[in-house]
Formats: sequence, structure tokens, C-alpha cells
Amino acid sequence: MEAQLNGVRIAYDDIGKGVPVVWVHGYPLNRSLWAPQAGALADCARNIIPDLRGWGASEAPSGVYTMEVYASDLRALLDELGLDRAVLAGLSMGGYVALAFLRNYPERLRGLILIATRAAPDTLQVAEGRRANAERALQEGVGSIVEPMVERVLSPATLAGQPGLVRAVRTMVLASRPRGVAGALLGMAERPDSRPQLPAIGVPALVVGGADDTIVPPDELRQMAEQIPGARAVLLPKAGHLVSLEQPDAFNREVRAFLGALDARAG
Ligand code: MLT
Repeated sequence: MEAQLNGVRIAYDDIGKGVPVVWVHGYPLNRSLWAPQAGALADCARNIIPDLRGWGASEAPSGVYTMEVYASDLRALLDELGLDRAVLAGLSMGGYVALAFLRNYPERLRGLILIATRAAPDTLQVAEGRRANAERALQEGVGSIVEPMVERVLSPATLAGQPGLVRAVRTMVLASRPRGVAGALLGMAERPDSRPQLPAIGVPALVVGGADDTIVPPDELRQMAEQIPGARAVLLPKAGHLVSLEQPDAFNREVRAFLGALDARAG
């Protein structure tokens, strides 16, 4: 499906019945990241799965895609679908977007699923690296910038034992476009510190990560979860940064239990 949101054509899937969950992919990915969730959770969730602007089948306007811009697109998607509130589930950059959504539209949020993400902003050095890469992506193309991500986002177990999945991730990563990559890199580089928001989170939250994630290491994820009222970090073995893709059964079990508890609370 497609919608015109904030003047940009956004592609999305809308699959299942139940608690509305907006699945927000990370960088440099697209909505095919959520293939193992879309069908498997369709009996308990209405899975709304967009390609963020600049990614997948969505339009890629030029400019800086701040986390606020992405969050505003998602709020417009909820408006388009006539939904007052939804759970936001974001992986890595998707989590930065979920925290921006929380900052700007807390009344539209029913719950948060934060996956392999962090609330801290970039260090100056990381932000500088991102700006340099954004420039390179626009000048030289994205291949050399995104290709190394394939090995970084997967656990040793996945790299050794799931060649089909490794190929799928490579295909997803190499589908990136220069404006999408540059827009996201520049936006991530200027994102604010979300840590002060954590103790005030007023909706149920689930925090999930991969025990072998080197991008958001387990200790960092645990520290973030400790700051969120009622939350704890669930770390799944044999999973790296793309935990929902690498260990879908265990991941989906956690989500199903979380959504079940949300429903019970509402009822
Ligand atoms: C992601 O997976 O979205 C990225 O690794 C996030 C980042 O670069 O900070």
C-alpha cells in the first residue's frame, strides 16, 4: 500500500488484526526486515510496516531526515489509517525514531518495543564520521558505505549457519539509495540525547536485544532498560544487531507476551 504523507510517497504493509503495532526498521534497511513478524504475529497484532522515507519502495526526497521528520511521517500514517494510538516497535535507528515519536506525540503511543537501540546521542567523532559518509554516499554511491554493515549487524552464529539470511540482508542493505543513506546519516548525527526521557516513559515498554550485538552491546541495552519504569532487557542468544530477523521465534514469543499483557491491561 502507499500513502502521501507530509508530501512524500510512503509504502507500507498493513497485516493482521489486533493491537496496532508500527514496525520501524533500522539503517541501512527497509521494511523487509520485518518479514518474520508480519505474518507470524498477524493473529494478535495489526502490523503496520512502513518503508521510512528514503528506503525501500518509499520516495527519497533530498534533505536531512531527522528522527523528528521520520516520527512526523509515522504520526501522519496513524492519521491516514484513523488510528488514535499504536505501539511503536523500532530497531536501532527505528528505536531513535520511536523515542522521537514519544517526545513529540506521547498521546498517540500505546506501548514501546525498543530493539537493539540506544537513547544516547552520537559522540562528536561518530557524528563527524556520519557526515563524511553522507557526503560520500551522495558523491560516490552507497556500496562501500553500506556493504560492511552486513557483517556488523549479524551474529557469528548467523554468519556461519544461516547463509540464506546473510544473502537476504546483503540484498536489503545494497538496495539503499544515496539520498536515503545521506538523509538518515545526517539525521542520526543530529539527534538529541533521549536519556532524560527514559524515567518518564508512561507506557509499557519491552526492551529486546541480541546477546552478540556489537553495535549496541548487552550492557548498554541493560542500562537503558533499567531507566525505564517497569522494563527490563531481554537478551536473546545467538543473535546480533538484527535480533528479530536472526531469532524470530524467540523474539516473536516476547512480543506476543508483551502485547497480550497490554491487551489484558486495556480490558
Ligand atoms: C541501525 O541499525 O539502525 C544503525 O546501526 C543505527 C546507527 O547507526 O546508529
